Amino acid sequence: MRIRAFILAATAALTACGEQQGIAPQRMADAIFAVIEADRAAYTNNVVNRLQNEEGVIKADEHWKDTKALPLPAQMLRMGSERVAEQGAGFNYALLSQWAINSQNKPRTDLERQGLEFIVENPGNNFYGTEKLGDTEYFTAIYPDVAVSPACVSCHNEHVDSPRKDFELGQTMGGVVIRFPL
Ligand code: HEC
Repeated sequence: MRIRAFILAATAALTACGEQQGIAPQRMADAIFAVIEADRAAYTNNVVNRLQNEEGVIKADEHWKDTKALPLPAQMLRMGSERVAEQGAGFNYALLSQWAINSQNKPRTDLERQGLEFIVENPGNNFYGTEKLGDTEYFTAIYPDVAVSPACVSCHNEHVDSPRKDFELGQTMGGVVIRFPL
C-alpha cells in the first residue's frame, strides 16, 4: 500500500514538474520565428540591400547560380528550411502565400489556408492552431510576411509567375508557417 502510494505521488510530482519545465507550443514557435525573422532581416539588409542597392556590387537574382548573383531572401529561407528538414530537427517551416510566385509555396492544408487568410485580414496578428495530418496532431503557427520595402512590391507585381499584380507597400504578402508535432 505505502509503496503504491509513493509511486503514485512520485508520478504526480514528475508530471507536474514536466509540465512546468516544458515549453508551451506557442512560446516555442515564437522563439523559432524570432530566429528565422532575424536571419531573414540580417540577410536582406546587410547582404542584399547593401551590396545590390547601396554599393551596386552584385545583384540578387532568382536564377542566382546561372547569373552568378545572390540568392533572393525567400530562396535563402527555403535553403535553411530544407536543411532543417534533412536534419530531422522535429519541426518544419516555410514561407507560403496564397499568391505564390513559386507554386511550391502555396498553402497545402486547410489550416494553412485559414491561417494565411486570417493574417491578411487581421494585420499585426499571428495565427495559431492545431491540425491532424495522418495520425499525428500538429501545432501550427503562422506569422505575417509584410511588404516592408518598395522592392517587395515591384518585384512581385512585375514577376511573370505572380498571380497577383496589385500588392501595395505595407500589405501582408504571405506568411511564415512553423509546424511541429504535439
Ligand atoms: C527581386 C525580386 C523579389 C524581391 C525584391 C522580393 N521577392 Fe519575394 N519572392 C520572389 C521570388 C522569385 C519568389 C519565389 C522564390 C522561390 O521560392 O523559389 C519569392 C517568394 C516570396 C514569398 C513566398 C511565396 C511566393 O511568392 O512564392 C513571399 C511571401 C515573398 N516572396 C514576400 C516578399 C517580401 C515581403 C519581400 C520584401 C521584403 C520580397 N518578397 C522581395 C521575388 C522577390
